[in-house]
Amino acid sequence: MAMIAQKAPDIRVTVVDMNAGRIAAWNSDTLPIYEPGLDDVVKAARGRNLFFSTDVAGQIKAADIIFVAVNTPTKTYGVGAGRAADLRYVESVARTIAEHAESDKIIVEKSTIPVKTAESIKTIVGSNAKGLKFEVLSNPEFLAEGTAVRDLENPDRVLIGGERTPGGEKAMAALVDVYARWVPRERIITTNLWSSELSKLVANAFLAQRISSINSISALCEATGADVDEVANAIGKDSRIGPKFLKASVGFGGSCFQKDILNLTYLCESFGLPEVAADWTGVVSMNDRQKKRFAARIVKELFNTVADKKIAVLGFAFKKDTNDTRESAAINVCRDLLAEHANVCVYDPKVPAAEIVADVLGQGQSNARLTVAPDAYTACAGAHAIAIVTEWDEFKTLDYARILGTMPKPACLFDGRNIVDGAALRKLGFRFFAIGK
Ligand code: UGA
Repeated sequence: MAMIAQKAPDIRVTVVDMNAGRIAAWNSDTLPIYEPGLDDVVKAARGRNLFFSTDVAGQIKAADIIFVAVNTPTKTYGVGAGRAADLRYVESVARTIAEHAESDKIIVEKSTIPVKTAESIKTIVGSNAKGLKFEVLSNPEFLAEGTAVRDLENPDRVLIGGERTPGGEKAMAALVDVYARWVPRERIITTNLWSSELSKLVANAFLAQRISSINSISALCEATGADVDEVANAIGKDSRIGPKFLKASVGFGGSCFQKDILNLTYLCESFGLPEVAADWTGVVSMNDRQKKRFAARIVKELFNTVADKKIAVLGFAFKKDTNDTRESAAINVCRDLLAEHANVCVYDPKVPAAEIVADVLGQGQSNARLTVAPDAYTACAGAHAIAIVTEWDEFKTLDYARILGTMPKPACLFDGRNIVDGAALRKLGFRFFAIGK
């Protein structure tokens, strides 16, 4: 919304939320999320044509187009628990819109939702007694965290799905006009509603599949002496495969890939396609194995015991340049190491200590074996091993000679992101291990 406001000064954009603290943060100097470049975009438009407010009802009345961008977490209870999307927030927003609207609206699904959600929204808002007309569009978001501003400024494509009726076409044209302020027309794709909703899940499933595929090959590389980065480079040169998203890692994390694949598998089953569901479940299983494999390798290389040994975990966010920790591989790695009675000391440049502890142990829990350090040097001091779990740039340029001086020998370094120079570190005296090498 901030990007739309920045690119279209004539459009008034108001972001509303019931959470007053969250809105106050968006109106303050410290935004509630860390995202490179976002501060500048927000500050450029805030107070001009970008506003943050808790007046949900008033802004529903005032708006022509309403984007629904609420959370759609994985359901934790009842039918579809652990896989289906919990649509209670989407439904609640639809009811709120129907309650407060006094004129026709275009409702845009921005949240990632299961296919056919638009139908539910339409049914709820359509059952209003005021005779109002609502057009529902699907406009999934493809930005990635850490590069959100860049992705929004220059998207590969903008996808808009709508009903192929005169009303639907008109609504789609209105939304196309918004994006066309800065996105070339040929990159704005319009489809039917269901294609658009499904494409979002499928895009994430394909991206996750690539990572799981290269990660699975990383195990074979480690066993054979092949180098996974060399393999990725060699196969990526084939223009049919392409070079992106082939970076082997400790496992993918984030709020989207796992959630969306599970959602997709649930959808397949709901439509009577259990075999298709099983195929895609495999992508998540491969990722789970990769996360386990990394922790298991640490234990194995530390002579099959890490009990009472200090292990430094560098990075906790699910990728660099974000403070988001949802489904981060670091959580699994820390838990596996704690289960082996290691003393785990975590450092992340952006994630607060309390969140690290809560993510690993559960809210309100503590364990003397889990500590959080204020910087990488403190985390690594006296450690038997270092595990790089997030690819933060600062980990590439640490003074590893200085760190090595503080560590009991033999000192191990496990690079879960393949970002540091293994040959140089071996020369310094580290026992060095990387993914797929
Ligand atoms: C992902 C998609 O890339 C976006 O297109 C999509 O809009 C978004 O989900 C969403 O559905 O909201 P995001 O999860 O923010 O974006 O971040 P990614 O860059 O995709 O990274 C996901 C995970 O995969 C991270 O843990 C990352 O480290 C890992 N990864 C990524 C690899 O292990 N190897 C790679 O080659 C690429």
